[in-house]
Amino acid sequence: MRTRFTEEFGVHHPIVQGGMMWVGRAELAAAVSEAGALGIITGLTQPTPEDLVKEIARCREMTDQPFGVNLTILPAISPPPYAEYRQAIVESGVKIVETAGSNPKDHLPVFHEAGIKVIHKCTSVRHAIKAEQLGVDAVSIDGFECAGHPGEDDVPGLVLIPAAAARLSIPILASGGIADARGMVAALALGADGANMGTRFMCTAESPVAEQVKQQIVANTELDTKLIFRTLHNTARVAANAVSAEVVSKEAESAEFSDIQHLVAGARGRKVFEDGDLDAGIWSAGQCQGLIHDVPTAAELVDRMMAEAEEIITGRLAGMVEAGEKVR
Ligand SMILES: Cc1cc2nc3c(=O)[nH]c(=O)nc-3n(C[C@H](O)[C@H](O)[C@H](O)COP(=O)(O)O)c2cc1C
Repeated sequence: MRTRFTEEFGVHHPIVQGGMMWVGRAELAAAVSEAGALGIITGLTQPTPEDLVKEIARCREMTDQPFGVNLTILPAISPPPYAEYRQAIVESGVKIVETAGSNPKDHLPVFHEAGIKVIHKCTSVRHAIKAEQLGVDAVSIDGFECAGHPGEDDVPGLVLIPAAAARLSIPILASGGIADARGMVAALALGADGANMGTRFMCTAESPVAEQVKQQIVANTELDTKLIFRTLHNTARVAANAVSAEVVSKEAESAEFSDIQHLVAGARGRKVFEDGDLDAGIWSAGQCQGLIHDVPTAAELVDRMMAEAEEIITGRLAGMVEAGEKVR
């Protein structure tokens, strides 16, 4: 399958594994890239820029296929040294970066100077247009279904992707709610040039999260997410568990961030992934959990999606057109 994304980014299949805090380590990114999709290392999962350099080198030992690095730029009281992480990416010779979290303008000149293509992830048509005007090479657009931060507009992919496609000239990756070939083909039909997936890749053999997390994703349905931080206008979609339920109920009682801070600490979420203690903290997961029924290797997943996508397009959908022609 050839799309503007596969052509312009030199990736075999139109599938991307989005950046995931604590999950996007070298093992997963390498496995995804080896499978012919685009694996992405999550920059800030590494405690220092020097560790990121080492992680990129580790990934390169595992694959000679292209992979990217996610740089999530969130406004913070004491932000990580973004410029140093950026420099680590540039000096490591990575050629694809996924930015997310806020406006990427401060980082674009350095990345472009180094010949790096930038995919900016956003959650609205207006932010996608702004990113295109700033000169990013592609946008990844997260619909309301997605794991992590869906923004505050609550527009699902079925509307968001075609609305963005009507306004943009650069390649678009549809993100949020995609876990199989049906979602990917639908996204392509809506005007996307590829599919970005988080939750689905978190539930693969090479994903570094505890087995209990993967089994919980398999057991969960599309109803098993919670939207936290709604009252703080910083909404995040996370797996339903005791902690996310407590956060939501405290928010309903008009809690301030300081009242829930201890519940949502990053270190607690990390414990979920590392120890498999599912109620240790909050952990991101999307509605597409309801479409996930197994824990394949990244290669099995990508191969299966590409084979089924071809079957849907040349079999089921083409069959509908042929049947229509016969009765005409
Ligand atoms: C565990 C987890 C952690 C994530 N962390 C980040 C992150 O640090 N930065 C980021 O840009 N997106 C992050 N995301 C969002 C994904 O990159 C992707 O946009 C999202 O998962 C797409 O929705 P889906 O899960 O329905 O496929 C995370 C997602 C998950 C599941």
